[in-house]
Amino acid sequence: MSFRLNHARPRRNRKSQVIRSMVEETTLDTNDLIFPLFLLEGTGKKIEVESMPGIYRLSLDTMLREIEECVKLGINAFDIFPVVDEKHKDKIASKSYDRNFFYLRALATIKKEFPDVCIMTDVAMDPYSSDGHDGLVKDGKIDNDLTLDILGKMALAQAETGIDIIGPSDMMDGRVGYLRTLLDDNGFTEVSIMSYTAKYASAFYSPFRDALDSAPKFGDKKTYQMNPANRREALIEASLDAAEGADFLMVKPAMVYLDVIRLLRDNFNLPIAAYNVSGEYSMVKAAHAKGWIDGERVMMELLLSIKRAGADVILTYFAKEYASLTRS
Ligand code: PBG
Repeated sequence: MSFRLNHARPRRNRKSQVIRSMVEETTLDTNDLIFPLFLLEGTGKKIEVESMPGIYRLSLDTMLREIEECVKLGINAFDIFPVVDEKHKDKIASKSYDRNFFYLRALATIKKEFPDVCIMTDVAMDPYSSDGHDGLVKDGKIDNDLTLDILGKMALAQAETGIDIIGPSDMMDGRVGYLRTLLDDNGFTEVSIMSYTAKYASAFYSPFRDALDSAPKFGDKKTYQMNPANRREALIEASLDAAEGADFLMVKPAMVYLDVIRLLRDNFNLPIAAYNVSGEYSMVKAAHAKGWIDGERVMMELLLSIKRAGADVILTYFAKEYASLTRS
């Protein structure tokens, strides 16, 4: 041989499965996953979301069975979103804090049936708003401070059902501090806040908006959700949320914002969550259905990359599939 390789040969640590597993730096675990679920009014319902193969809108009875199955697979955390009929929507999202509304009643039942399971809820107006926006529309604009008042009523009504974590997903200014104070003043000091800290105005949310029929009726969400071009702004948002008492900082979407996940991981000590959103899920499913990629392997690589970027917690529609595939 006319040349000599350096003594270090990194391939030695890849030579067998045992050694590869021994030196593996990042591991995924079902304990780190939160499974988003879509709740329908009524009974006996299970309707697939067309743009999200394998994901269903479920009525309470079918959702209870689904949660039971997931718990057996090791999934113990769920983020539950309501599908609200058009006739129940109005300007001020009043159903979001109506104690008789099916969503709030269902949450209480779910917590009663599964007291040890972690239930997260979404605090934002869009599923209940006739404008399809996350905030209150006044003179064609989203009014920040009037929105806080509604978010507060919503968060309290959700907290009363016994849920564990609220997820303010609206990107209004000051919401974390406002909700933390309100929850504490009303005796809900134990309810956690997973703040959607760096939530981008993304094109990846459209299958979710199909699932909930919650697309904005006019305009877009760019005056509240962040510009995909911005990284430093995520630090500003994270500093505010941390100071206002958030328990988790979330980045959303996940796949195309891995740098932002890493940025928050390196600059904050709070747990970092990442929302692997609907469009990210649908792309994998669509390409798999075409036979262009191996969907299962891509899913594994994708979830691992989110973890490797620094996320502690991943909200993902793949949760159940991942748990079924990896169950030993
Ligand atoms: C509501 C909300 C959205 C998502 C989670 N909470 C939609 C939006 O902001 O338009 C998106 C989740 C997904 O795409 O999977 N504020």
